[in-house]
Amino acid sequence: MSALLRLALTKGRLEAKTRALLQAAGTDVSPLLDTGRRLTHQLPDAGVEVVLAKAPDVITYVENGACELGVVGKDTILEQGRSFYEVLDLGFGACRFALAVREGDDFFGTFRHRRVATKYPRVAAEYLAGRGLDVEIIKIEGSVELAPILGLSDAIVDIVETGDTLRANGLVAIEDICPISARLIVNVAAMKMKKSAVQGFIELCRRGLEGQA
Ligand code: PRP
Repeated sequence: MSALLRLALTKGRLEAKTRALLQAAGTDVSPLLDTGRRLTHQLPDAGVEVVLAKAPDVITYVENGACELGVVGKDTILEQGRSFYEVLDLGFGACRFALAVREGDDFFGTFRHRRVATKYPRVAAEYLAGRGLDVEIIKIEGSVELAPILGLSDAIVDIVETGDTLRANGLVAIEDICPISARLIVNVAAMKMKKSAVQGFIELCRRGLEGQA
C-alpha cells in the first residue's frame, strides 16, 4: 500500500461532520471515535492519517506541506489563507459572517468615531473598507459579543450560526457579510507530486457528499 496522505482536521465542530462524511463514503472511521488525547489517527481505507489541529494550524500545516490535505472553515481561510488549493465545499459547518450591534443602535447613521470588535480583523477590515467606512478594529480572542455589552465597541463582526448567541446577549445582525462552510484544501506541491492519491481522496469526499444527500 502507498504511504498515507496526512489530513489536518479542525478539532471541534467540524470533526464529527468530517467523520460522518468519510463514513458515508464507506470508510471505517472507528479510529476517530473515542480518540482520547491522541492527535493522530490512521484511516487506511481512506488513504489518510488524520491529524487533529486548531483551525489556523490546519492552514499552516497544509501550506508548509506537513499535511497534504486539510479540512477547515471558510472563516479561517478568509482570515489567514495564503497559498493552497481550495478544492471542495463540504457544505457542513454552514454559517455566515455578520455585522451586529446592540438592539436599537444605529451603526450606519452616526459619523462619530466607531469601533468594531472581532476575532477576524482582516475579514472585518476588508468588509468595512468595502462599505467605505473608516472604523477602528479591536482584536478579541473569543466571546466577542461581550465587547458591545461592555462598551468596548459599537459593533462586532463575527460568525453567526443559529443566532442564539446574539439574541441571548441583546445583539442583532444588521448586515450579512458572506456565507461560510467547511472546505477541503490541498497543498500546492502535493496536488502535482501526489496527484492520484490526492484526487482519490477528493473523489472519496465527493462520494461521501453524494451518499449523504
Ligand atoms: C461562535 C461565534 C459566536 C457563536 C455563534 O463562537 O463566535 O459566538 O459561535 O453561534 P450561534 O449563532 O449558533 O449562537 P464559538 O462557539 O466558536 O466560541 P468563541 O466565541 O469563544 O470563539
